[in-house]
Amino acid sequence: MVQAARTALSILALFTVPFAANAAETTVYPLPAPVSDSDYRDVSEARARLGRLLFYDKVLSGNKNIACATCHHPDHGTSDGLSLGIGEGGVGLGPKRQVGTGDTLIEDRVPRNSPALFNLGAMEFTVLFHDGRVSVDAYEASGFDTPAEEDFPQGIFNVVAAQAMFPVTSATEMAGSGEENPIAAEAETDGVDGSRSRHRNVPKCGFHQGPRARGAIRHASYHHRP
Ligand code: HEC
Repeated sequence: MVQAARTALSILALFTVPFAANAAETTVYPLPAPVSDSDYRDVSEARARLGRLLFYDKVLSGNKNIACATCHHPDHGTSDGLSLGIGEGGVGLGPKRQVGTGDTLIEDRVPRNSPALFNLGAMEFTVLFHDGRVSVDAYEASGFDTPAEEDFPQGIFNVVAAQAMFPVTSATEMAGSGEENPIAAEAETDGVDGSRSRHRNVPKCGFHQGPRARGAIRHASYHHRP
């Protein structure tokens, strides 16, 4: 009887000891304070309205067939519901978006998952993209460290606005390629604005997914401070 009770107790101990240890280690932290307007950058209503119009307008793309919202749509959590996005030339929206067929078949998919954009207007976000290639940097004349380096224009007022300069120069995302349209043609040459060719030299903005793009990754990361 005593033996049975001892066995029962030691079995019980097996269960109770870890629980007791966990309970001792558990610390309850208070929840962070709810965000308020002061956590966000100041944006005038006029700018916000203009930004919203542009965000949904295909006019920003070289072939007028894709908007920012195609890849960052509110119906899909400000993303596109795809593992790898289908950029310019694609047909449809969200998970049903298709790469086309025949002559219009898209060969290069966007090489990265399209992230959600919630809350990026909050001041705590100062670095954007998976590799941080657009960031606030007080040492740069423009106030931002970007793949366009010293060619990045001055007067851009926050890091989200700085980021928005890049999708439009990417062949796979918004510009189109070759001589399809003037934006694509300009983006593909070193022409008028040298920064365009540099935009091309980053993985996301790659006109080519082959060896040239791989070289470009080295180029881009070389210029990024740790
Ligand atoms: C073809 C799809 C596509 C289009 C069109 C597109 N994006 Fe994106 N967007 C992406 C992908 C993919 C990434 C992630 C790239 C990375 O991290 O390297 C991204 C990243 C971003 C980010 C950074 C998010 C973060 O947390 O770092 C912002 C902001 C953004 N896009 C806004 C825009 C705006 C504004 C436009 C229009 C001017 C636009 N996007 C057009 C696919 C797209």
